[in-house]
Amino acid sequence: MKIAIIGAGTMGSGIAQVVITANHDAIMVSESAKSVAAGLERVKAGFEKAISKGKMTQEQRDSYLSHLKTTSSMNDIKEVDIVIEAVPEDLMTKRVVLEKVENAVRDDTIIATNTSSISIDALAKTLQIPERFLGLHFFNPAPVMKVIEVVRGKKTSSVVMEKARKFGEGLGKVAVEVNDFPGFISNRILMVYLNESINALDQGVATKEAIDTIAKLGFNHPMGPLELADFIGLDVCKDIMNAIYLQTNDPKFKPAALLEKLVGEGRLGRKSSKGFYDY
Ligand code: 3HC
Repeated sequence: MKIAIIGAGTMGSGIAQVVITANHDAIMVSESAKSVAAGLERVKAGFEKAISKGKMTQEQRDSYLSHLKTTSSMNDIKEVDIVIEAVPEDLMTKRVVLEKVENAVRDDTIIATNTSSISIDALAKTLQIPERFLGLHFFNPAPVMKVIEVVRGKKTSSVVMEKARKFGEGLGKVAVEVNDFPGFISNRILMVYLNESINALDQGVATKEAIDTIAKLGFNHPMGPLELADFIGLDVCKDIMNAIYLQTNDPKFKPAALLEKLVGEGRLGRKSSKGFYDY
């Protein structure tokens, strides 16, 4: 199949890597040539990791990469079968992009969003054919995490849900169907856990190392909650919590004061070299 990925950030490039590794043709789209070039470098770095672990040969990498095109123009996605939008987590930004996508593709192209917290129905509102629209929520790092949330909007057709589920399984993922509630299942659960860990740190219940060690050794999680928040990006966590809080008005989703403070100071986690930890 031909797949377009809109956005070349961490998620867009990770999804592109997954798609070409599953032997599809992919086109990664970003408005700026600089960000599309950076996205391509991230895909190459992901393959290097796999090669260094002996899980992929250089020939395989070259073959996969030959199926990945990059562009800054929506005109180049006319013939794709599925679009996966992975632009920043903002309702208006996504709506503008999705409208452009809908104008560019065939009427039978499936359009998916990788949103982590924005309502599928809210995004579908300005689409002409909402029946072909759904959520395909990948986890970070997309090439490693084994599950995707397949999110059904009120208007998503059953045929589209089934095709998307099969597509997800063809990517080597377990595709789990969920309904369109704020934060779906993943972030509805995860963000409360991360937020409460941040509140516990702020209240002096334990040090960051103690909190993370308990989660790693006590729950067998690969990362503790504060390490994970740094990994996801503290600004991203805050935005997701705010989006869920706005939609639910439930105070348990209100970003912790310490999270707000760190984001305000530009401590965004790994990507800014400082968060709860220094990198
Ligand atoms: N491409 C291909 N393979 C990759 C890769 C990439 N980009 N990145 C890592 N890998 C592979 C490595 O080759 C390695 O393979 P191996 O086990 O066969 O040797 C394996 O993945 C682990 O990688 P590393 O050895 O480099 O690193 P770690 O063992 O420290 O694991 C981690 C890193 C996979 C990030 C692990 O710490 C982890 O699983 N952390 C939790 C991540 C998590 O919870 N993600 C979900 C976040 S929530 C989310 O995304 C939702 C959103 O809406 C917020």
